[in-house]
This record gives sequence, C-alpha cells and structure tokens, in this order.
Amino acid sequence: MFVLGLQGSPRIKGNTGILLSAFLAGAEGLGACTKRLDVARMSITPCQECGACEKMGFCPIDDDMQQIYFLLRSADLVIMATPIFFYGATAQMKALIDRSQALWARKYIHRLSDPGRNYRSGFLLSLGATKGKNLFDGVSLTARYFFDAVGAHFEGSLTYRQVEGPGEIRQHPTALADAKEKARALVAPFLKRKKILFVCIGNTCRSQMASAFTQYYAGDRIEAESAGSYPAREINPLMVEVMEEKGIDMAFRRPKSIEEAIRCGKPDLIISMGCGEACPLLPGIPDQEWPVSDPIGRPIETMRRIRDEIEGRVRRLVTV
Ligand SMILES: Cc1cc2nc3c(=O)[nH]c(=O)nc-3n(C[C@H](O)[C@H](O)[C@H](O)COP(=O)(O)O)c2cc1C
Repeated sequence: MFVLGLQGSPRIKGNTGILLSAFLAGAEGLGACTKRLDVARMSITPCQECGACEKMGFCPIDDDMQQIYFLLRSADLVIMATPIFFYGATAQMKALIDRSQALWARKYIHRLSDPGRNYRSGFLLSLGATKGKNLFDGVSLTARYFFDAVGAHFEGSLTYRQVEGPGEIRQHPTALADAKEKARALVAPFLKRKKILFVCIGNTCRSQMASAFTQYYAGDRIEAESAGSYPAREINPLMVEVMEEKGIDMAFRRPKSIEEAIRCGKPDLIISMGCGEACPLLPGIPDQEWPVSDPIGRPIETMRRIRDEIEGRVRRLVTV
C-alpha cells in the first residue's frame, strides 16, 4: 500500500511538515509505504491554460509534475497538507493542483477511467494562525475538487487554528496524535487486501493489462501490482490504445522490475503470463501460470483478443 504526502509549505520544517510527518509515521507503523514530496522544493510551473491537456490528454510542460502524475496514479491514499495562506492553499500547492487539470481532462473530456479511481482515497491536513470560523472553507473546497480530478474519494480533513510560529504545532494538545490515529484508520482497510503480482517479460502489455483490470474490478479487495523479468523502457502504445477502447486509462504507467514491484511488501499470489522460465518466481509464494500469448509485434486485432482474454481471466479470478 502506497501513501503519497504532498507538503505545501515553503517552510519545510514548519508546522505542516511536522503534522504530515506524524501522519506518515502512523501509516508506516502499520506497514504502508510512504513518500513525502515537499512541493515548494520542486519545479512546478503554474498552468498556462494552453488547452493541450484538453486536446491531447497530456500536459506539455516538462518539469517535476510529470513524475508527480505517475505518483498520483500509483498512490492508494493521497494527503494534501498545506498551511493557510490568504484563506487558501499556498501558491506552490496551488500550482500542483492546477496542473492536475491534465488528469481532470482525461477523466471528463477524454472520458477515460483511471483504474485506481474506484478505491483511491484523499485526505486534507491544514492549519492556520487565526481562529476565524471560515478559515478552512476555501482550502476544503479546493481539496474536494483536486481529489475528484486525481480520482480519489475525499475522506475529510484534520484542521488546526491558532498555529503560527515555526514548530508551534508540537504544543497542540492532540494534533500529532490525531494525525497518527487518522493515518491508522485510513490505512488499515487497504492493508487487509490480498496482494497479487502479475509478471510477464517486459511489463509492457499482458501484466499491465491484468493489473489494471484487477484494480478496476476489485481494487478495494485486491492490491494488484505488475512487473517484468526484463522490464522494458516504456509500456506498449498499442496496448494503451486497446485499453482506451474499453475506457481504461493506462497513462502514466511504466514498466517495473520484480524488485521494485515487491518493495512495499511481498505478494500473496504471483500470476505469470506465458514467459515460462523467464519469470523467476519468489520462493514460498503460491503461483499460477496463465498461458496467454505475447502480443508484442502482432497486429491490433491480436492485442484486442489478448486484452479480452485477460479481462475474462481477471473477472473469473476476482469473483471466486
Ligand atoms: C503569506 C502568508 C499568508 C498567510 N495567510 C494566513 C491566513 O489567511 N489566515 C491564517 O490564519 N494564517 C495565515 N498565515 C499564517 C500561516 O498559516 C501559519 O503561520 C502557519 O502555521 C504556517 O505553517 P507552516 O509552518 O507549515 O508554514 C499566513 C502566512 C503567510 C506566510
């Protein structure tokens, strides 16, 4: 299980960072994999409203956001953590949020379904110096629509008033304990999922499709990963095209090695596809072989047939 923490304060060791670290420590304590991004240290150009994402589904600005799209799509739980600056999120966090317009466009204009969106969760952590009643109204609305764009169910927030000087959040009677407890409550259901690792040779077609269908149909019950015994550099564009014909969005995925795929925990089951001896299986872990032929270099009709075969196999797997 993967938790992505987006820390929006330019004061890296400030109150927001401390609160987010407490949250991530709670998640790690239960066994989740976490990553904290200090957004203010990253290169994220604000949206230029060029319209490219609406036309093509991608943002042409080549900066750190390209890596963040991949992380947002890989996360089971996304945490947006920001101090209040003028009743909203910081400019750095807002730049990231505005660039998620590319994901919004894929969902609402291109009508594609990110397979993770059926189970991904989002949560807001925020704090500010004053005690105004409406202090978090603006950021809560921004969070709601950000999480919708990135395909995450908004699970609510923890917000703290009258927190100003650096590190003052440590003096709060409950904030850090609240964050740890909330992390445990949000993470626990994800950790109950059975883990399945799909393996083929390049992790460009078969295992990618199998893991995406599993996420799409049963991501709340099964954590699906995929890997290749010899991972290629990129996923196969024909595979992406035939998955889009089914409305499934494979953007921002990339091939992984088996080591990378099991870094956040060993699977309960390995399903390998047509690669026989080339798929090194992990000792002690049950495995199955699906005799699905390799579509690489074959015409689009073959890719479609293999997609449908894999979908059928996944549907049978997840209904038992
Ligand atoms: C540019 C700027 C704008 C701010 N605007 C607000 C505000 O509108 N309301 C508020 O309560 N606090 C405001 N604050 C105070 C911060 O929210 C507060 O100091 C917070 O604890 C900073 O968190 P950090 O240590 O994570 O950066 C502002 C601070 C700055 C620097």
